[in-house]
Amino acid sequence: MPSALIIGASRGIGLEFARQYLAADWRVFGTFRGEADRIQLRDMGVQTLKLDVLDANDLAAASWQLDGENFDVVVMNAGVYGPRTSSIQKPPTLEEFDQVMRTNVLSSMRLMPLVSPLLTRPRGTLAFVSSRMGSIAETSASYGMLYRVSKAAVNMVGKLAHSDFAPLGIRVITLHPGWVRTDMGGPNADVDPADSVSGMRRVIGEPMAYPGGGFFDYCGQSLAW
Ligand SMILES: NC(=O)c1ccc[n+]([C@@H]2O[C@H](COP(=O)([O-])OP(=O)(O)OC[C@H]3O[C@@H](n4cnc5c(N)ncnc54)[C@H](OP(=O)(O)O)[C@@H]3O)[C@@H](O)[C@H]2O)c1
Repeated sequence: MPSALIIGASRGIGLEFARQYLAADWRVFGTFRGEADRIQLRDMGVQTLKLDVLDANDLAAASWQLDGENFDVVVMNAGVYGPRTSSIQKPPTLEEFDQVMRTNVLSSMRLMPLVSPLLTRPRGTLAFVSSRMGSIAETSASYGMLYRVSKAAVNMVGKLAHSDFAPLGIRVITLHPGWVRTDMGGPNADVDPADSVSGMRRVIGEPMAYPGGGFFDYCGQSLAW
């Protein structure tokens, strides 16, 4: 039975990944922070792990709990947007900067040594749920500046992981889920979480069409870095 680890499975896109992999008869591990989320995930059939990605104790405990597990897919999904108003005209405060950069970037870096040994070789896939807003090539406005900067950095973490892990047989891809109706995307977003995640699962599941080192949207379109 194939298996997946979803970092940030409590709601939105991460929860939908857990749902869809379970429905496809995968063994699913998912991380949560709140007790209600643990119960919800457990009742769905997810094997739960408490992980606040900012908490060094949680990271150490997760590493210990996952020792000996093997995953075909690890989805690095947890993330925050931060202040809606951030732009060149309105730079973030130190607190805002720390929260977004630590959650999105530092945690991606710190999770690499934890998750990479758990991926099956030679076919395991590590997928970063990043954003088109992190594409430097496609940038045409400064709104969402802090989030954009954090996702550009996440994209670099994905590229660095690809360069180190490809020789080990681990495929690393970076994904854009679309603008998705979640707490982060809001009610006016144009993509349903189910469609976003089924598209990303297809990309994850087709390594020949979507090779390691690439940046793809949920429809499989290749994006410029
Ligand atoms: N929605 C969109 O339109 C969109 C577009 C492009 C990219 N993305 C990316 O897709 C990913 C998921 O977004 P979403 O729309 O599903 O957002 P969401 O509904 O706001 O969910 C965010 C997820 O991240 C988790 N998380 C946040 N901070 C965390 C921390 N310190 N430790 C552990 N988990 C933490 C949350 O857990 P809690 O429930 O415990 O807070 C939740 O599971 C993010 O990386 C986001 O940047 C989303």
